[in-house]
Amino acid sequence: MISRHFSGKLIGIMNTENLKKIAAEKATESVKSGMIVGLGTGSTVYYALLKLGDRVRAGLDIVGIPTSAGTEEIAIAQQIPLTTLASHPTIDLTIDGADEVDVHLNLIKGGGAALVREKIIANASKRILIVVDENKVSSVLGTIFPLPVEIVQFGCEATQTEVNRICGRSTLRLAPSQDGNQQPLITDNGNYILDCHFDSIPAPEQVELQLNNIPGVVENGIFVNRADKIIIGTPSGIRYME
Ligand code: A5P
Repeated sequence: MISRHFSGKLIGIMNTENLKKIAAEKATESVKSGMIVGLGTGSTVYYALLKLGDRVRAGLDIVGIPTSAGTEEIAIAQQIPLTTLASHPTIDLTIDGADEVDVHLNLIKGGGAALVREKIIANASKRILIVVDENKVSSVLGTIFPLPVEIVQFGCEATQTEVNRICGRSTLRLAPSQDGNQQPLITDNGNYILDCHFDSIPAPEQVELQLNNIPGVVENGIFVNRADKIIIGTPSGIRYME
């Protein structure tokens, strides 16, 4: 009904939302009672959180560990019981999104600025399902989405200079402040984000290590050998890479 009144571009956006939704909801089918579940961040995982909320209210017995303050807020609203890594250092299953995935299941993450907690949660997880729409699948990482790198505020200009030696060009991520002006985005960990504009990242494992070796870099959004399965929403249904 609403779509009749929108331009073709907005109809396209609505379709992408459907692709995110089918992928995210499919992933929740792997969640069983008794599990510790890592709860990812982003607009795709949002649909998984809604679905898990429905199932929890219908009796599903799980405990979640959120990857961001935003996800924590949504999980609480959905009445999903939460715990911490301190209480549960091993996570049975994590459902998370990604900004770009390659055919080797490598990922770029951090579009939602949650990459540090997402990587910590990923590292503690026995199994990781990544949910995306088909527009995020690329043959070489770094060709669709700039790579987010979280850096500490102290000395950020010097850190950016070093990061640029690797990526060529980066931009400090901004966000509107309460007065409407743009200011550096502050992550849940109190840090800044650089978005790194590589031409491509043909050797992601190497770049991940190189970036993390720079003083001032907290973590970067390259995830290598971490995803067990990519669940991809396409107009003709779900596709998998594993
Ligand atoms: C959060 O920092 C990210 O890693 C997200 O998981 C990623 O950006 C995907 O987000 P969307 O589902 O909103 O595209």
